[in-house]
Amino acid sequence: MLKVSGMSVRYDSVIVALNGIDFEAAEGRVVALLGPNGAGKSTLLKAVAGMLPFEQGDISDGRVAFNGASLSGKPPAAITRSGIALVQDGRQCFRNLTVGENLRAASFRHPNGSSARLDLVLSYFPILEEFLDRQAGLLSGGQLQMLVIGMALMLQPRLLMLDEPSLGLSPVMVQSVFEIVERLHRDLGMTVIVAEQTVPRLMQIADDVYVLSRGRVALHAPPGDINEERLQRLYLS
Ligand SMILES: Nc1ncnc2c1ncn2[C@@H]1O[C@H](COP(=O)(O)OP(=O)(O)OP(=O)(O)O)[C@@H](O)[C@H]1O
Ligand SMILES: [Mg+2]
Repeated sequence: MLKVSGMSVRYDSVIVALNGIDFEAAEGRVVALLGPNGAGKSTLLKAVAGMLPFEQGDISDGRVAFNGASLSGKPPAAITRSGIALVQDGRQCFRNLTVGENLRAASFRHPNGSSARLDLVLSYFPILEEFLDRQAGLLSGGQLQMLVIGMALMLQPRLLMLDEPSLGLSPVMVQSVFEIVERLHRDLGMTVIVAEQTVPRLMQIADDVYVLSRGRVALHAPPGDINEERLQRLYLS
């Protein structure tokens, strides 16, 4: 479904963040994208979503194809419309708007069927229904994470990319977030890419694992081949 070939990315024309990456996500799979700080995980997701120009980043080599069509040079809105949603790290939303307003704002470019999508989102995140009229800035970290994933679902993506969703969450909250990812995959057949540093729960639901290190793919293997010790060795190398 997603095919990244030989991709290199630079920031400010000089900082090489990715160096000849090959990466694939097959339809209906959950793909874990692991790697230590600065490995290039967020850069890869932003490159796919067309977000690099906002950070003076550019794809200096290689290509990205989604269902066989090139995404090169497309703006983020067009990429979103083609069925890709990225939940960036940092839980970005409109903190002074309510939960309901954020969910509706997320689908302003795709108004058709948005009330049915809102019902679907609320069925996955019942907590958001309780807080529909509450200001987003008053939510806890875990609740905010659910909101931003809910906002991505308002776009009805075929490929959902999550950048470090577990960051700063309690272990119970991490479990809840990954349970929802598993349900999205199981019930809706959604293809999901999750970038994380290391989460044992992610290894239980992933079909495929890529480990990045210093802008290169250091390992591509099934989750059964990955353990904490092997990851530590790669991260320290
Ligand atoms: N906007 C930017 N401008 C310049 N350099 C950047 C920018 N964003 C990232 N980089 C650099 O690109 C490299 C890859 O960063 P990236 O954020 O993709 O890593 P990451 O794997 O997501 O790390 P983390 O786990 O800390 O989120 C790093 O060396 C980083 O310093
Ligand atoms: Mg990152």
